[in-house]
Amino acid sequence: MATAQKQDSNSLFSTSLISPAVSEALPTGYSVRPLERSDFQAGFLDVLRVLTTVGDVQKEEFEKRFDEMKAGSGYHVLVILDGEEKIVGTGALVVEKKFIHSLGLVGHIEDIAVTKDQQGKKLGLRIIQALDYVAEHVGCYKTILDCSEANEGFYVKCGFKRAGLEMAHYY
Ligand code: ACO
Repeated sequence: MATAQKQDSNSLFSTSLISPAVSEALPTGYSVRPLERSDFQAGFLDVLRVLTTVGDVQKEEFEKRFDEMKAGSGYHVLVILDGEEKIVGTGALVVEKKFIHSLGLVGHIEDIAVTKDQQGKKLGLRIIQALDYVAEHVGCYKTILDCSEANEGFYVKCGFKRAGLEMAHYY
């Protein structure tokens, strides 16, 4: 289902794509919103460090990548903030445009991370639910992701099922 999308110039994507049900289900004081250009200061990259190597990314480099994502459309990086406005979780939905399936759209879930001290509070689940909401509302017919065997149980709890096999070339 397509929605009218109001765009805040500081936000990566429209706040109208944030699920009201997910916002309500978060612990008291927590919130969910699109990534903002000023989030370098709010600890966004530190959250991603629980997932993998981030590197020594500077503020200007972060902002340049943010601008590229915003100009490219289809990038939906969202964040969860605790009661002190600190980013404690993040996840991304990248929308791929296809010719097949009548010009179908496929959602790719990427880079899900919850800071170590906040894991086990259902924040990971809420991130996936929020990304599913975005995917449905921008018109994706399916959403897919790659994960390690160690995380399979988490995604099963989020309603995903094993499908296919990942292959990779690294450069
Ligand atoms: N294996 C099996 N079940 C799990 C796992 C796991 N690794 N992690 C959580 N669960 C279960 C929980 O027990 C819970 O079950 P319940 O409903 O029966 O209580 C349910 O899944 C939801 O768990 P959450 O509390 O929402 O999980 P959390 O907030 O801790 O987030 C996450 C899970 C994102 C995997 C977190 O542990 C994390 O950030 N890990 C490090 C980074 C990472 O591996 N990210 C995923 C990479 S794959 C990708 O990005 C596409």
